[in-house]
Amino acid sequence: MEEHPPLRSYGRIKARPIKPRQAALMDTLLPRIRCPDASFAPSDLKPEAAEVWLEIGFGGGEHMAAQAQRRPDVLILGAEPFLNGVASALRHIDEMGLDNVRLHDGDVRALIGRLPDASLTRVFILFPDPWPKARHHKRRLIQPELLADLARVLKPGGRLRFASDWADYVDWTLERVLACSLFRWTAERADDFRRPPEDHITTRYEEKRLGDCVPVFLDFERV
Ligand SMILES: C[S@@+](CC[C@H](N)C(=O)[O-])C[C@H]1O[C@@H](n2cnc3c(N)ncnc32)[C@H](O)[C@@H]1O
Repeated sequence: MEEHPPLRSYGRIKARPIKPRQAALMDTLLPRIRCPDASFAPSDLKPEAAEVWLEIGFGGGEHMAAQAQRRPDVLILGAEPFLNGVASALRHIDEMGLDNVRLHDGDVRALIGRLPDASLTRVFILFPDPWPKARHHKRRLIQPELLADLARVLKPGGRLRFASDWADYVDWTLERVLACSLFRWTAERADDFRRPPEDHITTRYEEKRLGDCVPVFLDFERV
């Protein structure tokens, strides 16, 4: 299996203790909805699903759970290595009674490596860790290798949404996605990326407004 450099944690020096109810869900619910740890076809996990989406770095899982509730016909895979986030997402999944979410509690790059070509319709990367210092840019999630992998697993016509409130990360992403030539930026006018898209659900990090610009939303289509 492909090896990736270890993940570095941005701004989370210490994890919070996991609450007893969430810890119980880690033991009971997570094993039932965890993605397989070998190659798999996501459509086999829920054959009646019309589409399969992936959310990378779902944080506390609010966006993922709300999208899953809104679209019960879609199976959503979520990847998040931060255990407090996984525990919080399990609580949302449990409370909302969702049966269309599957989790990978680890680095998304391992999950993508297990997915067949053209198996996803949508991918969300919302407010990824910004790593603003130049010497840390290599830790950014958006790298040519990840984009090539996403192009492989997205169906033609599938969509990738990136959002950030760090101007330099927006520029970085635009430059790299367009250089990849397998994606087309769907924006037609400035308002298309300065306003949240109609189907967007505000995330926890977005609300914190920690960046240096208004949230920017880049929607790309796999050509
Ligand atoms: C700044 S937080 C944003 C969380 C959430 N998307 C939001 O907007 O509230 C970025 C998240 O990406 C996760 N992350 C970082 N590298 C990742 C990777 N390689 N695979 C999956 N998730 C990753 C982090 O653990 C963190 O929870």
